[in-house]
Amino acid sequence: MADLEALTQRVLSACADLARMSEEPGRITRTFLSPPMRQVHAYLKGWMERLGMSVWVDPIGNLRGYYPANKPTAPRLLLGSHLDTVPNGGAYDGALGVVLAVAVLEALGGRRLGFGVEVIGFSEEEGVRFGVPFLGSRALVGRADAALLALKDAQGVSVAQAVRDFGLEPEHVREAALQGEVLGYLEFHIEQGPVLESLEYPLGLVEAIVGQSRLEVGFRGKANHAGTTPMHLRRDALAGAAEWIGLVEREAWGEPGLVATVGQIQALPGAGNVIPGEARCSLDVRHALDEVRTRSVAHLVTRAQQVAQRRGLELAWEVKLDQGAVPCDPTLLERLEWAVQDCELPVHRMPSGAGHDAMILAERVPSAMLFLRSPGGLSHHPDERVLPEDVTAALRVGLRWLEILEEHGV
Ligand code: GLV
Ligand code: MN
Ligand code: MN
Repeated sequence: MADLEALTQRVLSACADLARMSEEPGRITRTFLSPPMRQVHAYLKGWMERLGMSVWVDPIGNLRGYYPANKPTAPRLLLGSHLDTVPNGGAYDGALGVVLAVAVLEALGGRRLGFGVEVIGFSEEEGVRFGVPFLGSRALVGRADAALLALKDAQGVSVAQAVRDFGLEPEHVREAALQGEVLGYLEFHIEQGPVLESLEYPLGLVEAIVGQSRLEVGFRGKANHAGTTPMHLRRDALAGAAEWIGLVEREAWGEPGLVATVGQIQALPGAGNVIPGEARCSLDVRHALDEVRTRSVAHLVTRAQQVAQRRGLELAWEVKLDQGAVPCDPTLLERLEWAVQDCELPVHRMPSGAGHDAMILAERVPSAMLFLRSPGGLSHHPDERVLPEDVTAALRVGLRWLEILEEHGV
């Protein structure tokens, strides 16, 4: 049996090392194919190669490492998570899942299985740079099309150009798609919420991932002098946006299970003595039931139209993402449940309110997720943490799960 305590320390120190590979000194910020992603790739590549894995970066910038099977032709199991972060994020959202995947293979101590194992560090899951998430996993399921490559970031750089700047060839993006027989995908991830901590459980089995919509909503009025323009002659785009943001919050309070967030707002031209002529807002809406989510999005757009009309503003909106809720695979979950029981840990099934690459992979392959408790329920924050004993528990369950898949198949 591998020394899981030592491996736990290795996992935690790897997460701390990756956290220092950032676009901003003193903060953890790593967006799609930004320069520190190169360091992250080099770090993980070195570790995987020491385990006898072959490692490459695919044409959308996903880091992929293959741990061979004990026979020349065998199907593959996928393990992974994402390597990008939100601005000023934590050290574990995404990175922990990739690091744990490699650590579980290290815990095999060189033993090969009846199937190969591919570890994937997805290039993009958060949707920060291009306003649209899952760039890496969408390429794996063959959904990286011309429209995705043409998306532009705030500096006007397209996904295709960002890929080229990283030294990759966007023309070959289709080669990132999964080939051959794939048994399934497992993603380790911090819970990013308070449920497991409140139950005092180290781990949770994700049964389903809630759907999410992301929109960009723009109010356009008229920029003018803040000192000379009387209140009744203004068309203040930001004041309109502010009124609507209050309605967004009220909508979510009024619908059980609905969460709605305006996390980003830009006022233009952006000076203290100029009435904002334009306000651009993000909108993120999530619910376990797709019909509730889509109804609420339609309602919020109507609300924005009403606010705009009353204030003499123009409104434009664009749906950036309409991702339905996704159930996890019952067979993989059952095997995971056996693994948790065999490790004498409490079994707890739960939904995920956060989005994950697993919800995209589930379109093509059976997918499952294992959550690790999040101390303080905190995530998307620099104080995000994980408990060492929970990392050890995840390593034990991951190893046992691989053994169960060997014994029983998928
Ligand atoms: C990813 O973290 C998301 O759920 O937004
Ligand atoms: Mn994540
Ligand atoms: Mn995240």
